[in-house]
Amino acid sequence: MSFTRRQILTGLAGLGVVGLAGSGARYWLGRPADITTHDYELIAAPLDVELVPGHVTPAWAYGGQAPGLELRGRQGDWLRVRFINNLPEPTTIHWHGIRLPLEMDGVPYVSQLPVLPGEFFDYRFQLHDAGSFWYHPHTSSAAQLGRGLVGPLIVEEREPSGFRHERTLNLKSWHVDKQGAFTEFSVPREAARGGTPGVLSTVNGTHAPTLDLPAGQVVRLRLLNLDNTLTYRLNLPDSGARIYALDGHPVVPMPLGKEYWLGPGMRIDLALKVPEAGVELSLRNGPLRLATLRSVAHDEVAGDWPPALPANPVAEPDLQRAETLRFNFEWAGTLSTDAAQGGAYTFWQINGEAWDINDKTCADRPIATLKKDGHYIFELRNLSQYQHPIHLHGMTFKVISSNRRKIDPWFTDTYLLGKNETARIALVADNPGVWMFHCHVIDHMETGLMAAIEVV
Ligand code: C2O
Ligand code: CU
Ligand code: CU
Repeated sequence: MSFTRRQILTGLAGLGVVGLAGSGARYWLGRPADITTHDYELIAAPLDVELVPGHVTPAWAYGGQAPGLELRGRQGDWLRVRFINNLPEPTTIHWHGIRLPLEMDGVPYVSQLPVLPGEFFDYRFQLHDAGSFWYHPHTSSAAQLGRGLVGPLIVEEREPSGFRHERTLNLKSWHVDKQGAFTEFSVPREAARGGTPGVLSTVNGTHAPTLDLPAGQVVRLRLLNLDNTLTYRLNLPDSGARIYALDGHPVVPMPLGKEYWLGPGMRIDLALKVPEAGVELSLRNGPLRLATLRSVAHDEVAGDWPPALPANPVAEPDLQRAETLRFNFEWAGTLSTDAAQGGAYTFWQINGEAWDINDKTCADRPIATLKKDGHYIFELRNLSQYQHPIHLHGMTFKVISSNRRKIDPWFTDTYLLGKNETARIALVADNPGVWMFHCHVIDHMETGLMAAIEVV
C-alpha cells in the first residue's frame, strides 16, 4: 500500500477542534451527546502522573489518563475516533483484537502513515465482536506503551448480557525507579531473554488499590494485560470466580481455578459473586497482591450467575480441508551484529527471518500468503526457553491443540506459547490485507519476533 500525506488531515484544524488554547488543559475529550453511536475525540499527550507517592512520572496519556481512557461501543455499531497527536513524536493507534479493514489497523507504513505531532487521524470501523479489547500505538512501542499509551476498548454485547455490574482492571507494571523516573523500557540483555520487566505493578494506574464491589452481586471483572512484558499468573483465592470470556471471546463458563496465565496483550473476563459486605478478596499475580477487592453493602437483591455470553460471529475453520503452515519461533541472539552499525538488535526470528523495525519495507516481504477465504492451520513451534504471547492482527483464530496441555478449543487473537511448546491454531483467512503476526512481549517484537502475513 502506498500513502500520500493527504490521507491525513493536518495540523491546526485538529487543534482548533479541541480548543486547547485558553483552557490550559493538555487534553480534552469530546463525545457528542446528540448521536446514538459512540464517537470520541481522543488526544495523546504528555501527562504527569503520581505512581510513586510524592513523585512525578512524566507519562504519556490517552484522553488524560494512563492507562488511557476507556472507549466503549456496542456490537454492530461503528466506532469513530478522531485521534489527535499532541505528543512530541509520531504515533499510530492499533486496535488490538478488533477485526477491521487494513486501513484502520494502525501499523505504520503497512496500513497508514504515522500520525505526526499536531496531526489527527480519523479511525472508524464497525464492531463485529463484543468483548474486552484494547488499543495502543504500533510505533516505538517499547517506549510509547511503556510511558502509558495503552487503553481499554470495551464492546458491549448487542443485547444485555445479564451482567448488571462490571469493572475494568487494566494491569500494567511501570518501568520506573523509586523517584518515579522512567528507567530503560528495553534493555538488550533482557530483550534477548524474557523481555524487560517493569517493577511497579499497578491496576488502573494505582499500585495495589482497594476496589469496592457491591455485596451479593455478580460482577464482571474485565482483566486486561496491557503490560509490555509480564505474564500475570492471575489468581483470586477463595472467590469461586468463573471465566466467561478469554481475549474478548466467550467460553463456556468455567471455574477460574488455581491460576490463569495472562500474557501481554491477553484479556480474561471473570464473573465474581461478591461475598457479604466487609469481606476482602485478594487479586494476585502468583503470590503478589495486585489489588484488594472489598465487598461493600448494596441493597439490590442478590444476583445469580448470568448465562454464557453469546458467541461472536467468527468464521469456523474447517480442519478437514485446512492447509497447514508451520511457523518456528527461535532465539537468534548471535545474529545481533547490525546493532554495532546502529541498526536494530535482532535476537529473535520467525522461520529464520528477523523483522527489522527500522526497515519500512519488511511488510513487502510477507512470511506467508493466504488465499482469501481459505482455511488454514498454523503450527506454532517455540524453539526457545522463553514463552511468547503470539498475536495476529486482522483475524481471530481458534486454538485447537498443544503438545503441552489439554486444549478445549477457543477463539482468540493472542496465544501464550509456552517454552518449547508446539500448538496448532486454525482460522479462515476472511480479511484481505497485510497483517502483523508477532510476539506481544514488546521487546521481543522489536528485536525480530514479528512478521507479516498477507491475505489476497
Ligand atoms: Cu496489540 Cu500488533 O498488537
Ligand atoms: Cu493487534
Ligand atoms: Cu516473545
